[in-house]
Amino acid sequence: MRYIVFGSGGFAKEVIDYVEDDNHEIVAVVSTTKFNSESYAKRYEVIDSVTESLLDTYPDAKFLLAVGDVTVKKIIVGKNVDRWGSFIHSSSHVSRRSKMGKGVVVCPYATVLGDSIIGNFVTLNVYTCVAHDNVVGNYSTYSPYAGTMGNCTIGDDCFFGTSAYCIPGVSLANGCKVSAGSFVRKSHQTENDVLIGNPAKPKP
Ligand SMILES: CC(C)(COP(=O)(O)OP(=O)(O)OC[C@H]1O[C@@H](n2cnc3c(N)ncnc32)[C@H](O)[C@@H]1OP(=O)(O)O)[C@@H](O)C(=O)NCCC(=O)NCCS
Repeated sequence: MRYIVFGSGGFAKEVIDYVEDDNHEIVAVVSTTKFNSESYAKRYEVIDSVTESLLDTYPDAKFLLAVGDVTVKKIIVGKNVDRWGSFIHSSSHVSRRSKMGKGVVVCPYATVLGDSIIGNFVTLNVYTCVAHDNVVGNYSTYSPYAGTMGNCTIGDDCFFGTSAYCIPGVSLANGCKVSAGSFVRKSHQTENDVLIGNPAKPKP
């Protein structure tokens, strides 16, 4: 597969490594900022937008969203034509009985289990777990080691910090953020709240 990667931050550097590890080709990196690292900058010149000539030169290349921030993901998708592809690292386990949207990134050692439905532009960082019978809304992001146990329903635009979890059967409204290390034990239906602690409670 050929990819045009969007992003030049820390997560983009990680995604580039995963893509290269799985022997795919990166033909361009698109971002408004440059890499903060010589090793990536040497290998990939960052361009600030996609050009017609790039699209013509690589008609088979898919766009890959290498950004974790929900708001930034939406801006990038809104500004570009729809050539989005997904990337699922070979070390991850994605059940054949799950459904994946477009523009999804599944990082090493992540798991998506039976009958789960993953929306468009969802990001699953390393070691994340979406257990059986989950529904994960569009643009939601799971940071490393985060997980939602069986039968959870996660809204659009949700964000899980590192090692944030939902116990089985929890529903989260759109735009909720679960703080790193927090445990959500009850469904939360108010949109855009930040949930903190164990048991997780809304930020006052
Ligand atoms: C969810 C999150 C993004 C929300 O950010 P935010 O709205 O800026 O909220 P803050 O982090 O400032 O937290 C608000 C308050 O809750 C407290 N808080 C945050 N997480 C907490 C926790 N797990 N336990 C107890 N208190 C916590 C903060 O100390 C802060 O208190 P203060 O206002 O008295 O200083 C952020 O809390 C978070 O988890 N960041 C980690 C992101 C991450 O893991 N990224 C990995 C990318 S690979």
